[in-house]
Parts: sequence; C-alpha cells; structure tokens
Amino acid sequence: CGIVGYIGQQDAYDIVLKGLQRLEYRGYDSAGLALYDGKNLSICKTKGKVSELDLKCKNEQLIKGKVGIGHTRWATHGEPNDINSHPHQSNSGRLCIIHNGIIENYDTIKKVLEDRGYQFKSDTDTEVLVNLIEEVMINEKVKLGKAVQIALNQTVGAYAIAVFDQEKPNEIVVARLGSPLAIGVGDEEFFIASDASPFIEYTKSAIYLEDGEMGVIRLGREPRIRKINDDKLVDPYITELQMSLDQIEKSGYDHFMLKEIYEQPTAIKDTFRGRMLADDGIIKMAGIDDHLEKFVNANRIIIAACGTSWHAGLVAEYIFEDIARIPVEVEYASEFRYRNPVIHRNDILIAISQSGETADTMAAIKLAKENGAFVFGVCNVVGSSISRETNAGAYTHAGPEIGVASTKAFTTQITVLSLIALKLGKAKGTISNSDFHSYLHEMESIPSKIEIALDKNDHILKVADNYKLAKNCLYLGRGYNFPVALEGALKLKEISYIHAEGYPAAEMKHGPIALIDEEMPVVVIATRKGHYEKVVSNIQEIKSRKGKIIAIVTEGDNTVEEMADHVIEVPETFEAFTPLLTTIPLQLLSYHIAVMLGKNVDQPRNLAKSVTVE
Ligand code: G6P
Repeated sequence: CGIVGYIGQQDAYDIVLKGLQRLEYRGYDSAGLALYDGKNLSICKTKGKVSELDLKCKNEQLIKGKVGIGHTRWATHGEPNDINSHPHQSNSGRLCIIHNGIIENYDTIKKVLEDRGYQFKSDTDTEVLVNLIEEVMINEKVKLGKAVQIALNQTVGAYAIAVFDQEKPNEIVVARLGSPLAIGVGDEEFFIASDASPFIEYTKSAIYLEDGEMGVIRLGREPRIRKINDDKLVDPYITELQMSLDQIEKSGYDHFMLKEIYEQPTAIKDTFRGRMLADDGIIKMAGIDDHLEKFVNANRIIIAACGTSWHAGLVAEYIFEDIARIPVEVEYASEFRYRNPVIHRNDILIAISQSGETADTMAAIKLAKENGAFVFGVCNVVGSSISRETNAGAYTHAGPEIGVASTKAFTTQITVLSLIALKLGKAKGTISNSDFHSYLHEMESIPSKIEIALDKNDHILKVADNYKLAKNCLYLGRGYNFPVALEGALKLKEISYIHAEGYPAAEMKHGPIALIDEEMPVVVIATRKGHYEKVVSNIQEIKSRKGKIIAIVTEGDNTVEEMADHVIEVPETFEAFTPLLTTIPLQLLSYHIAVMLGKNVDQPRNLAKSVTVE
C-alpha cells in the first residue's frame, strides 16, 4: 500500500491525488482520501484505481482543505471495496487514519473494543487501530501523539500510519514499523509519503523515519520524532533528496515498463560508473573493500530474495561459483526465514531487493544477523529499510523503477553481483589477471550490446503478434540462462496473464515435454556460449513434437535459424554476461504481448511492486 499526507498552506487535494498516482505501484485495489478544512471533513474512497477516485471526488465536490491524507491499497484484510478502503474514521468521527501494513492482533483488540461498545463498519485491521487510539485518548485523557504511542505499544504487526484529530487541525501524527515513511519538509508545509516521489517537486528535504519511530508533525515547528517504545526524542535527520522529477515520469514512452526496458544501457553504466576502472584493472566497491577479508574467507554465500530479485540471485550463483569459487545457496526469503536454516558465523548472506522493503527478505536478514552471519544488501532504493538493516551493501543505481514488472532492476542487480564476483575472484586468485581484465573490458561493452538487442524491437513486435493468443508458454535455458528462462516466464505471466513456466532445458524431457504440441510456444535461449549443442538437441526434440520455437540466438547463427519458427538475435558476449543480453528480448516479448492483449502493463492485476507484508 502507499500513503500520502499534506499539511500546509496549499490546497491538499491535488498534492494528495498526484502523490497517490505516483505511489500506485505499491498497490491499486482501492484508493481513498480525506480533506479537512479546520471545521469540516470530506472523505472519498473507492474500489479500483486512483483515476477512479479522482472522478468520484470530482463528482462529489469535496470541500477544499489544507490538510489531507490519502491511501492506495493492496488488499490484505477484507476484499477491495469502498468500505474497506482507507482512510478510516474512529467511532466518534474525530480521528482519521491511513495505514500501510498489518496489525496481526487486530482480532483480539477488536473483541475488547466491541465489548466496550465500539462498532465497526469495515473488515479491516486499520479501523480497529484507529478506534484503539480513540479509546486510549478518552480513557487516559491524553493528546493524539501520546495516544498513538500507547496504542501502538499494544499492537503486533507492521505499519506506516498517518492520523489526525479534527480537534487539532494543524497536526498530523505518523509512525512506522516495518513499512516505509518519509516526511517532506517544506516552507510552512509538510508532506508525508511512503517514498519521496509524491513531494519531489515541492521540497528536496526529507526525514526518513527509522523503524520503531513516530513523529508529531505540527505546523510552525520542527517535527518531533521519538521512539515508539521508550519515549526518547530523536534528532530529526534531514536528507537532501537526489531524485528528480523526470526520473519518475514516462518521458514520451507509452508505459513505464517500456521506458525502463530502454533505460537499461544507461542504468547499467550508472551501476558500474565510478566502480569499474577497466583500463586500470580495478573494481572499487566500498561495501566489499571494507570487509574484503570476510568475503575472501567466507564459507559460503547465502542469497535471499523474492521474485525477480531471486532470479538475479540465481544468475549470481553461477558467476560466484564460476569465478570466485565460493559455494552459493539461493533461497526464497519466505522459505528461508521459516525453515530453521543452518547458518554459520562465517557465512555471508546477500539480500537482493529492488525496493529494499520486501518483508520476507527483511525477515531473512534479521534471522541471519541473529545467527551471527554478515549481511550484505543489494538494493535499488537508496535509504530503504533493507539498505539500512544490512551490515554493508552496494546500490544498483538503476534509478526509480515504477513499472510493477521489474526490468532494469534485474539487469543492474546482475551487474552489481557480477562486479562483486569478479572482485572476489581477483582477491582470491581464482581468476587470472588477464581474464579479469578481459571481463572488465567486456562488461564495459555491455551497454552498447544492449542497445543492439533493443534495436530488434520491431522484429520482436512481429514475433509477439503470433503468440498473443497462446494459453501457455514454456521457457527453456541452461547454465547462466536457466534463471533467464525463469525470469522470461515470470514477465509473461505477470503482465499478460498467460501461463508460462521456465525450465532448465535438459529437464524438459523429465516432464514438460508431455505438454508440447502444435499449440505450445517454446522460448529457447540458445546462445553460442554455454551448452549450445545440448540446447540445439533440445530444440530438435521440441521440433519433432511440433512445438513452436522462438529461439534467442547469438548474431549470425544459421543452425538454429533453420530449425526454429522465429529467431531473435543478441550480440555475442562472455557466457557469464549473456543473461544481461538474453533478458532484453524476453522483456520486450512479454511487453508487446501484454499491450496487444490490452492488459495494464504497468499495474498488473493483484500485484504490487513493494510487498511489505509477509
Ligand atoms: C514483488 C514485485 C516483484 C519483485 C518482488 C521482490 O512481488 O511485484 O517484481 O521482484 O516483489 O521485490 P524486491 O523489491 O524485494 O526486489
């Protein structure tokens, strides 16, 4: 979910609504907002997208307010309908709240409140929380800030909340535990949001609340930040934001996803800029340099991640073992955290996360730390929770990724992880100096090779047209390109809702081959480096069962061209870097199919970009 708030001199409606649109990547099952003019309150909420909320608000002619809060929801408790949408009010109507997260013990609290006469309109945990705050205010005769603090100390769960009291029109109280919350500090105005994008054009000064902190934001003074559980005041740390407005706009592209696909050459350059000095044969990464001995002596590396980031972890497994000769295990963070894993003190956990907020990945980090392991983060969002929780890390520097289906985050994660593997290979002596130099020079050429892969877009569009009505699709790859097959399949199912599966090419004969007939498109990654002959044999097996073959091949390959229904070429590169190129046509293929099917590419149904619940 995403939350936005405003208190100041401007009309809050436009700020809150535009802010919600920018946060829609965090969930879009329903949306709502509340405006307050110091006397009256207007609330408008609806199932569906922020654009629907805008229409509804305009029809209802809300009051103009200089205080506003809004919410875009990814449903957890209660189906996405108007009633369950936020903001929620307390029974007296006095308090109004928005909440991102889950209150796990809401049922127990609800029963207690019901016994005291409280009534609930929705099925949400949030309505329980706002009434608990009201109950504390009444019972203990305290102001809003104190009541929020007492109430939160009775809850179990995760939250980023913003709440205001109609009797205190110049104040909003916020708190966070497990879900992000940023405060934009303007001139006689404050902004509140899940990330800084809603207020980037108004102020570059932000306070990121730390986990377990709350703040009383009152006009005319500095926000008062304190720990939720011990009342200690904390000095607010104001960060200067680096993000610019054009980074979060579509810049002429039809969709953010397409823009982000095309940004990959630049994003990868940004990833290695200042880190890789190919001519000098140096990779500088402070997060590794400062702990080099730990990495060199590590028993093994455990990689924990979810979704696309997990696929980047799988690619890293190949390169770490290949080049740095360190054993690697790649874990779904959600499984790792609950299965009593064996973790040693000289294990290193690498957590990969675009958003840096994924709850399962965060839990895996905490578990590894408790067991004495060193934790390294690979995140895209600067200042995110995971980047702060880890012992060290490296940012991907891909810039904001807004399309829910991850693209440039994936390739930049692979880039960072490859640099780490090369650096460790050099430090451990598992790669020769001359090979190290060649890898660095080859990495330098990757952005221009991605440009060449992107130039095939028109051809990929035509290929996509043949398969838009497919019901299923199989993706095959081997070695470094097995994870790419998984990622290709994930992209297709996420945005086009066509069922797709990724498989190691050689495993096809142990099951999936039964699915192959003339209706079944099979995307095969068959680049010349890496088990080429074996994959060619797999292509023949598909052909003899009349499957439709779309092959991703190295430029100039005639052998596969004769067998496949379609080939899409990518430039030649080192085997370890092929994922950075073979991923590109697969992203474009799913993109075009989804567009042809009229799907919402940037905001596929039921998904959210940042999943702060487990
Ligand atoms: C969500 C997104 C995926 C993403 C995954 C992990 O499910 O829809 O695109 O790969 O979370 O997110 P993270 O931010 O940790 O990389």
